Amino acid sequence: MKTVIRTAESAGFCFGVKRAVDMIINCLDRGENICTLGPIIHNTQLVEELSAKGVRVIKFPEESVSGETVIIRSHGIERDTQKRMDDLEIPYLDATCPFVKKIHEIVATTEKDGLVIIAGDDSHPEVEAIKSRCSGKHIVVADAKALSERAEDILKSGRKAVTMVAQTTFDSNEWERCIESLKKICTTAEIFDTICNATAVRQQETEKMARESDAMVIVGGRHSSNTAKLVDICRRHCTAIHVETAAELNSRCIQGFQKIGITAGASTPVRIIKEVQEAMSEILENQTELSFEEMLDQSFKSTYNGEKVIGTVTSISPTEIAVDIGTKHAGYVPLSELSDDPSAKVEELVKKGDQLELMVVRVNDVEGTVMLSKKRLDVAAGFEKVMTAVDTGEILEGIVTDVIKGGILVLTSGVKVFIPASQATASRNEDLGGLLRKRVNFKILEVNRPRRRAVGSIRAIAKELRKLQEDAFWSTVAVGATYEGTVKSLTDYGAFIDLGGVDGMVHISELSWSKIRHPSQVVKIGDKISVFVKNIDEENHKISLGYKKEENNPWAILEKSYQVGQDVKVKIVSLTAFGAFAELLPGVDGLIHISQISRDRVGKPADVLTVGQEVEAKITELDFDKKRVNLSIRAILDERTAAEESSAQPATGEAAPEVE
Ligand code: F3S
Repeated sequence: MKTVIRTAESAGFCFGVKRAVDMIINCLDRGENICTLGPIIHNTQLVEELSAKGVRVIKFPEESVSGETVIIRSHGIERDTQKRMDDLEIPYLDATCPFVKKIHEIVATTEKDGLVIIAGDDSHPEVEAIKSRCSGKHIVVADAKALSERAEDILKSGRKAVTMVAQTTFDSNEWERCIESLKKICTTAEIFDTICNATAVRQQETEKMARESDAMVIVGGRHSSNTAKLVDICRRHCTAIHVETAAELNSRCIQGFQKIGITAGASTPVRIIKEVQEAMSEILENQTELSFEEMLDQSFKSTYNGEKVIGTVTSISPTEIAVDIGTKHAGYVPLSELSDDPSAKVEELVKKGDQLELMVVRVNDVEGTVMLSKKRLDVAAGFEKVMTAVDTGEILEGIVTDVIKGGILVLTSGVKVFIPASQATASRNEDLGGLLRKRVNFKILEVNRPRRRAVGSIRAIAKELRKLQEDAFWSTVAVGATYEGTVKSLTDYGAFIDLGGVDGMVHISELSWSKIRHPSQVVKIGDKISVFVKNIDEENHKISLGYKKEENNPWAILEKSYQVGQDVKVKIVSLTAFGAFAELLPGVDGLIHISQISRDRVGKPADVLTVGQEVEAKITELDFDKKRVNLSIRAILDERTAAEESSAQPATGEAAPEVE
């Protein structure tokens, strides 16, 4: 079946770009010397053509030479740069697109204490120029999500007037979402839809065509942001083939499709679009003529840069692998294109006979070789995975490769994701150095597709996990339940225990049966201990825990194993004017009243006893209700004296010596 090719009506130069290019051509026709401040458009071919006609590209106005007129491109320039040109009396022609100028006027006339929100790409020259013209403060948001995240800043700023504008090439669907977000934050915001109609029309037409086609060829510069957006739009619906010129096309990339659409960025000259149309028609015609020949000799299949192929590993050397991709070319993958890891060994990565998905990097038809890359395909797939993870919420895994100022970099599927310090650990102020070379799980918080950047969070996962654990805990917790917990922090009045999702507190009085001055006398941070629930305050989500166990209760031990009249060894723990306290068991001290210390009169207990001294005493009273124990040294001494005296008495029935 014959392939149908359609070209978008909106493809090619927009009004603003055409105006700027015409301005240059008119100058050239008049024989003027001109230079452009930055490339006039994001189209290498046109810039090269103009350069061949003597149009120089300069970075700063001061680089212009006498007799040269500077052309300001359609993006516009920063206010200070323009002022410098005026001050230095550098002749210039302003080709800033009138639609961009309209935005300059809006932001320049906002209130000085107002806030301007610019929806766009912060680093794009158009946005740089808009920012420089804001009379008050401004913020730039890449999308609606970024705008919502700045809600607090917008509210906190206490700004009287909030104004929102968009970069002229901003995605129209995203703009709708930005408006919705802003309305939720600030109902009085003034919103100016400054998306260029040409951009919106081009994007809408492209989307419609992409939906109806099997493949879309997007013609435009690799650095053109509006072209990149068209590629993104097409990718959502069909195969997207991005080319800068017709030379990048061949039969392999457009074969097999029945409906192919062509669109082009705002800075793509009509001539290049025509060349692409012609090249495609030619390729498709030849393809029909050659198909029989191709069927006869599959081994003479060709390949093209960027193509995805399956290669079978045919040999391995320490620096590269050879692969057969089913074409006449000798395929090879250098080690640097096989893995990101410079220390990786080829033989550990692949073995002979393995089938690998590879990307064609460079075809050399003269030498008959093709350089392939696994890494680039992995990175492309990884990039897509990371970009979509922001919407799907997928948890990614990666290795921390760098600790940098402000956070860490995590490598996942060949893509480095920045995780700010505030999002890198479960709690703030934790040392990031400990994460280096560790495998971590994280979520993507925001992405900037054009700048190929992503920001992630490890903390977001820890938070989610904790929430799940917390819910599980509260649904099962009961008084008396025991838990293994970790001592998280200590205060003067108790220890906080992490029970896995929920923290509970053991009051200092519950840590030990003995009197302690500080919880650190019993536990230390990081200890794993067994605790039980004493009380639950569901309303305030507070848990009181117990640590000391009943079986260790010294009063219970005392009741079981000690009785009045029993002689015990005790240690003097303190001395007072009325007696001495001695430890009977850890947690139970008994009083030896001053009158019970000795058979002799004692002036003060310290005269005969010292703290730490071990003495023998008799239990004279056990009062379990009042938790009181009385001891007596004297009672033992009395007993001993009585025993000695009785042993000194003559035995009963023995005749008394006669007295003469
Ligand atoms: Fe102007 Fe719109 Fe083109 S703003 S430069 S006409 S895309």
